[in-house]
Amino acid sequence: MLTKEQNDALTLTDAGLPGGELLRRYWQPIALSTELPPEGAPVPIDIMGEELVLFRDQQGRVGLLDRHCCHRGTDLSFGRLEDGGLRCLYHGWLYDVTGKCLEQPAEPKNSTFKDKVRQTAYPVVEKGGAFFTYMGPGEPPEFPNYDFLSYPEENIHVHKLFIDCNYLQANEGNYDPSHVGFLHRSFDPNRRPGLNFGALKLVGLTKDEFKPTDIDPQESPRLEVEETSFGVRIFQNRSAGPGRKYLRVTYFCMPNLSVIAGPQGGDGQIGHYHVPIDNETHWRWNFFVRRDAPLDEHHRIPNHLKKPGEYSDAYTITRKRANRFMQDRSTMNQNFTGMGPNFNTHDAFATETPGRIQDRTKEHLATTDIALAASRRQALRAIEDVRAGRDPIGLVRNAEENRFPDMLSFDVVAPEEMPNAEVVRLVVERHETAMV
Ligand code: FES
Ligand SMILES: [Fe+2]
Repeated sequence: MLTKEQNDALTLTDAGLPGGELLRRYWQPIALSTELPPEGAPVPIDIMGEELVLFRDQQGRVGLLDRHCCHRGTDLSFGRLEDGGLRCLYHGWLYDVTGKCLEQPAEPKNSTFKDKVRQTAYPVVEKGGAFFTYMGPGEPPEFPNYDFLSYPEENIHVHKLFIDCNYLQANEGNYDPSHVGFLHRSFDPNRRPGLNFGALKLVGLTKDEFKPTDIDPQESPRLEVEETSFGVRIFQNRSAGPGRKYLRVTYFCMPNLSVIAGPQGGDGQIGHYHVPIDNETHWRWNFFVRRDAPLDEHHRIPNHLKKPGEYSDAYTITRKRANRFMQDRSTMNQNFTGMGPNFNTHDAFATETPGRIQDRTKEHLATTDIALAASRRQALRAIEDVRAGRDPIGLVRNAEENRFPDMLSFDVVAPEEMPNAEVVRLVVERHETAMV
């Protein structure tokens, strides 16, 4: 449970508010690379209550500006791409990608007024199939070298989904593993209920010392958490036969990101950013990565093409609050929700229905919620750091330190007595060696 002040601090992300100032200290994804191809039209971007425009000039340079012209506010996303920048349709003021005003053609020839105005501009980096920006003050931190953003294009599939609620409650679903065996349960004997692991790793054991059938997918995991230098590591601990444990390791990463193990048909992980559009809606970003080989065709097919009826367009789930998620109670003997087989629908239902901004003064956290509690404590401390003028955790200011080798999500079976920290160390070490 949180106080109203704490809930507001974590959930409200307009500029100047504590949560908004925190999220603005980190690079955030704003658009898919495919949304702004070479010579593409300017793209309106709505993020944390700000209205921006992403565009490419004729040289291919990418800019992100306040969408409202600093002359009299007209929308620049309708503007003309010409003469080295983006030209407003109202009186022809021209801006370059840095927000510099290059021309004010209706002003007198000798006027220097164009040098006195500036359009708000934010830096842009393209990585992992998406554009990212930094909207905070001062020098941006290093763009983080997260594992899931560090592979060639053929190893990554990225998409985004509109979610009709505050960013935090949806991200909290990512580090709430006990819901998987309920919300997403299928009663179809051909679909393995609950667990859905990718490449299962073994440490301290040989292949013949373990059979996948030693894991009971219906066993509720015992959770343990520990803080890292960038977030919270969550261990889901289940039995894997006598003297062995099955660990699933996932992460909350500051301040609006989660990292979860595959499956991507091999050794992989998924980075989920939850980026506010405003305080009551957001984009859920999914960066699917396979580490050991290019993603196969199946994992590259966009969801709306794979399950056409479940999506009304590339970014929107058909089932929503307004149509009561099209629940058909006669199908509740096929799956837990009666809302079809789409995991994204289940998650949208569970996280949108607490209300557009969940009132956390009324909740009752249980033992399965220790990861939520740890992540909130960490984010509230980070808000205090920002208030006090310090960098919040997870920011990197120099290139040599820009590595996150232990932000690695995976499924592993290990001897029961091996400490979790040792399991992580061995898996990270093996991964690092494989990368060399
Ligand atoms: S409002 Fe944009 S040039 Fe006047
Ligand atoms: Fe889920």
